Amino acid sequence: MTWLITGGAGYIGAHVARVMAGAGEDVVVLDDISSGVPRRLPADIPLIKGSALDGGLVRQVLAEHEVTGVVHLAARKQVGESVEQPARYYRENVGGLTTLLEAVAEAGVRRFVFSSSAAVYGNPPDVDLVGEDTPCAPVSPYGETKLAGEWLVRAAGRAHGIATVCLRYFNVAGAAAPELADTGVFNVIPMVFDRLTRDEAPRIFGDTHPTPDGTCVRDYIHVSDLAEAHLAAARRLAGGGEGDLTVNIGRGEGVSVRELIDLIGEVSGDRRPALVEPARAGDAPRAVADARLAAAELGWTARRGVREMVESAWAGWCLHHPEAARH
Ligand SMILES: NC(=O)c1ccc[n+]([C@@H]2O[C@H](COP(=O)([O-])OP(=O)(O)OC[C@H]3O[C@@H](n4cnc5c(N)ncnc54)[C@H](O)[C@@H]3O)[C@@H](O)[C@H]2O)c1
Repeated sequence: MTWLITGGAGYIGAHVARVMAGAGEDVVVLDDISSGVPRRLPADIPLIKGSALDGGLVRQVLAEHEVTGVVHLAARKQVGESVEQPARYYRENVGGLTTLLEAVAEAGVRRFVFSSSAAVYGNPPDVDLVGEDTPCAPVSPYGETKLAGEWLVRAAGRAHGIATVCLRYFNVAGAAAPELADTGVFNVIPMVFDRLTRDEAPRIFGDTHPTPDGTCVRDYIHVSDLAEAHLAAARRLAGGGEGDLTVNIGRGEGVSVRELIDLIGEVSGDRRPALVEPARAGDAPRAVADARLAAAELGWTARRGVREMVESAWAGWCLHHPEAARH
């Protein structure tokens, strides 16, 4: 079996490629290096530089590498940018997936894993745990492209006999090694690191939400655990798993923004108090995954805790921002 990993030079993709290769799977990466970093991949993992939007190239890669399964991570992922450039997000995320699925169906590839996101739920209703049957109501074009992507994956699966798994990642954090860390500043952990590095207090948006400490509660998942979930999904499909499966990938445990900032203070040694700003319109007070379906169907549960995420993310941040380490 050979797995094609699209977006495999990205933050999550490089972890997935390494975990799958480390577990003995043959993998090949297709990445256009728009936000990926080739040196995240070890030399023995083939990297083809090109776009999932290039149908001719995708067909060639599927044939030349005798690909039998695809893990599709390649996408644009910035929520704010997707609000400003919705057509680009639909073209790249949904268009890229369309091209890839056509080539996959034509080549007779029968296994497909898709990177979805908790963004498909939008601001989930006031529930303790967000189950896969919670209504999907994305609030950004990015989230819409992920939900449309899931629909397309399941429909193509039914039409062409492709077994599929859609993984809805919650808040991904941490790194297996500092050089594999996320270099973007789009999520709360790097945003707090960025504020501290600039000698500014971290910000909390609202502390009167109906949560134990009044700040928003989220579910954080270590990228190494997430990578292992992809391996579990790939193994399920390789083992004859049929039909479609859509599962949350989270820890099923909530961490508040205040708890997260306190932990970052401990890890970084910079414990300055946070500034409390007004709550942002539409921010759900709580969004925590019900992670039981992934355990039942994939035999996978997260093993790493939030401290490990923050410590490894901080080590990665300091590699790229040496001035932060001196703080
Ligand atoms: N990081 C998160 O918190 C998070 C949460 C939920 C879902 N996701 C999804 O996980 C996937 C990976 O995210 P990431 O955080 O690793 O982002 P990333 O930007 O680090 O990785 C995306 C990779 O895809 C490549 N790429 C983009 N468009 C491409 C194209 N058309 N053809 C080939 N390669 C292309 C980029 O060069 C990059 O290497 C994305 O689909 C994203 O939407 C991420």
